[in-house]
Formats: sequence, structure tokens, C-alpha cells
Amino acid sequence: MNCDLIAPHYWWIERLGMGRTLERRRRWFLPQLGNARRALVLGDGDGRFLRELLRRHSDVRADYVDLSRRMLELARQKAGADRVNYQQADARTLDLPRDEYDLIATHFFFDCFGPNELEALIARVADAAKPGVQWIVSEFRTANIPARLLVRALYLFFGITTGLKTRKLADHRPILQSHGFRLTGASHSRGGLVVSELWKR
Ligand SMILES: C[S@@+](CC[C@H](N)C(=O)[O-])C[C@H]1O[C@@H](n2cnc3c(N)ncnc32)[C@H](O)[C@@H]1O
Repeated sequence: MNCDLIAPHYWWIERLGMGRTLERRRRWFLPQLGNARRALVLGDGDGRFLRELLRRHSDVRADYVDLSRRMLELARQKAGADRVNYQQADARTLDLPRDEYDLIATHFFFDCFGPNELEALIARVADAAKPGVQWIVSEFRTANIPARLLVRALYLFFGITTGLKTRKLADHRPILQSHGFRLTGASHSRGGLVVSELWKR
């Protein structure tokens, strides 16, 4: 997947298609995170969530990881470099420190992976988490036919514009559970099409 081409257009395409729904989903749990200090923000794209995280949590330092150079540049412009370490890297193979993070954020990122890749990714990221870690996830859900059609259209769009090969949403919930995470909060928009989840371990 290469998001360089769509990176500068990502926000307005999202706004056109989904209004402020995804923005609300990303931010939903920010007021409930308590005293987060070390965050791992994976596949955050243009950095809108990262900027908000830093604004609301003045003690947090974050590691931002994204494959796309253009996305990373946009994120750096938005969120600055004071409290963020930016890495252009593949989250599937990146070396992560053990027992480091008390907050992990993955917004509309799990949908880039098939079930086996997602299992391997979550296993690696889970090893990087401290006891008591919180993991916030935003994702699409395909609970009904209109949602399935919309998600199929999104995969088609990302397949054409970024080369994404994944075509079907994998269910991250049993994978997170199998790594000891417990769902402690969930909220959704648009009849369950888009969810925000807070997981703890
Ligand atoms: C669908 S976009 C979501 C962006 C943002 N999180 C949001 O909420 O809109 C997926 C992002 O994940 C990045 N990405 C995809 N595969 C990746 C990988 N293996 N490692 C790191 N980043 C990846 C893409 O470059 C892109 O910025």
C-alpha cells in the first residue's frame, strides 16, 4: 500500500464521503484516557489524531509510525516534532521496544490487513505494551448489507489509489481478546458502520 498520492487529499475525500463521522470516532476516547505518557500511534496517516492527542494530553510522548512518506510529512506539519518520534516504517516488521507503551492507537488501520497479518501485527504490538495499557481502535463494521457494500466500495477505492491488496475486513476483536485485551468501552456511528473501541490489558 502506498498512500503518498492520496495523502494531501485524504482529509477532504473523507469529509466529502463521511462528514465528520471518522473524526468523531478517532477522538471519542481521548477524554477518558487518564494519564497516558507513552503512546504508539500506528498508521495514523496525516496526523489529525496525533495532533489532538498531544493537545489533550500534555504529558504524552508519542511514537508515530506510517509507511507513507507524504503522510508522515503532513503529520509532522500538524503535530510538530517536540513530543513525537516519527518513523516511516512498516508496522509489520518494525522493531518495537518491549513493555514500553501505556497507550496504543490504531484508527482505520486494521482494515489494511488480512486476518493472518493482523494476528501477527497485534501479537508484536501487544509485546510492546506495558501492564495496564489502553488500546484505542476505530474501525468499520460490516453488520448489514449497506455497510458491506460501502466497505467493498472503500476497498475498491483504496485498491485503485494506493495498491492495497486487502479486500475484506478482518475481525480484530477475537485477536485482541486472545492476547489478553478486554473491551472496556465501545461507541458507534451511522447505525454501527463505524465504531470506536477502548481495550485494556
Ligand atoms: C486507511 S489509512 C488510515 C489513516 C488514519 N489512521 C485515519 O484514521 O484516517 C491507513 C494508513 O496506514 C498506513 N499503513 C498501511 N499499511 C501500513 C503498514 N504496514 N505499516 C505502517 N503504516 C501502514 C497508510 O500509509 C495510511 O496512512
